[in-house]
Amino acid sequence: MSRTLLVTGGAGFIGSAWVLSRLAAGDRIINLDLLTYSGNPENLAEAAGNPAHVFVKGDIGDEGLVKALLETHRPDAVVNFAAETHVDRSILDPDRFVRTNVLGTSVLLRTVRDWWLTLPEERRAAFRFLHISTDEVYGSLGPSDAPFTESTPLRPNSPYAASKAAADHFVRAWHETYGLPVLITRCSNNYGPRQFPEKLIPLMILSALEGKPLPVYGTGGNIRDWLHVEDHCEALALVLERGQPGGTWNIGGGSGRTNMEAVGAVCSLLDELRPRADGRSYLEQIRHVEDRAGHDFRYATDFSRITRELGWRPRRRFEEGLAETVRWYLGHPQWVRRVVTGEYRAWLELNYAGRADAAP
Ligand code: NAD
Ligand code: DAU
Repeated sequence: MSRTLLVTGGAGFIGSAWVLSRLAAGDRIINLDLLTYSGNPENLAEAAGNPAHVFVKGDIGDEGLVKALLETHRPDAVVNFAAETHVDRSILDPDRFVRTNVLGTSVLLRTVRDWWLTLPEERRAAFRFLHISTDEVYGSLGPSDAPFTESTPLRPNSPYAASKAAADHFVRAWHETYGLPVLITRCSNNYGPRQFPEKLIPLMILSALEGKPLPVYGTGGNIRDWLHVEDHCEALALVLERGQPGGTWNIGGGSGRTNMEAVGAVCSLLDELRPRADGRSYLEQIRHVEDRAGHDFRYATDFSRITRELGWRPRRRFEEGLAETVRWYLGHPQWVRRVVTGEYRAWLELNYAGRADAAP
């Protein structure tokens, strides 16, 4: 059945993958995105000219705009991806994360609730507010701790994770207090096409190709659980369709890798697909640099609930998905050229230039 979805943050990495997948499934999308540094209209090039996609540049915290969009388009669901998303940026500028991730989400929730209350009963019951959260809200695991479950207490460590945890509490409160039919998902690290190259995998691909150092924080022994962005979108589609309102679902890849393993895999793929002119390996470009402040050691996600209830599990193996991702970046030099702007170079300078070398 075709639905109308108000999607926020739909020009970013995961949001654009979701928009493209939902358009392919026949849904109509109202895409509200502020186009911050990580929002990119080129991510939506495949949707150009599609009358089922309406793009609106704007802020989730702009009550008047959100109200007008709700009244005009009468969506069946709101899917909230919009956020500030990079941990390192949150360390340098936490207030921005509070503004968008906490205050913005709160304004969005309030505006949606006011409109939702005006709907006829049947439409009110069928409406959903899907909030995209992260496994980082649970904090950090030791090497042999059991993976996070949905009932693991929230112990966020970075300003980013704290802002996402705060938003999760607001979303849950809107269900408990006002009965808004909310759904929360908490996913592990995503990778795939169109990810802004401040995050580990695209940063390493592009830096390697430019002959630059590959900056691994600390020893590189920290562990992340990688999931392909399209697997994430498939999980979100099931939660939106069949998830019980008020529920939370973990989404994970079952692909825990140390950062050195992940960076090593990128280097090996590039050695094969785009060998260095001097015949040496990209591995030689790895540099251990000063660690991230408060660096979470390990994330691992128990996603048995979504498997049990909704039949979802990841379909793509990390090494295969990574090879496809590396090929995507190699095959889209124009996308890369337009993203690697002066602003991006300034970020690299700010975050990396002053970092001392660290012992591996
Ligand atoms: P991204 O940084 O690529 O995209 C964020 C998008 O939100 C951008 O298009 C940006 O322009 C938009 N945006 C920012 N502030 C806005 C505002 N005030 N109003 C409207 N739009 C705004 O991020 P992503 O990696 O695609 O992450 C999307 C969501 O998924 C986030 O909520 C993030 O916390 C969550 N998440 C990400 C990952 C991951 O590994 N990338 C994993 C789990 C959860
Ligand atoms: O777990 C889900 C989260 O994954 C999402 O909620 C976040 O939005 C997303 O950014 C991601 O957070 P991480 O901090 O894990 O991702 P990032 O790509 O920044 O870093 C991955 C790991 O690599 C982490 O241990 C830090 C390390 N790293 C990162 C960068 C950018 C480096 O060693 N060097 C780097 O230059």
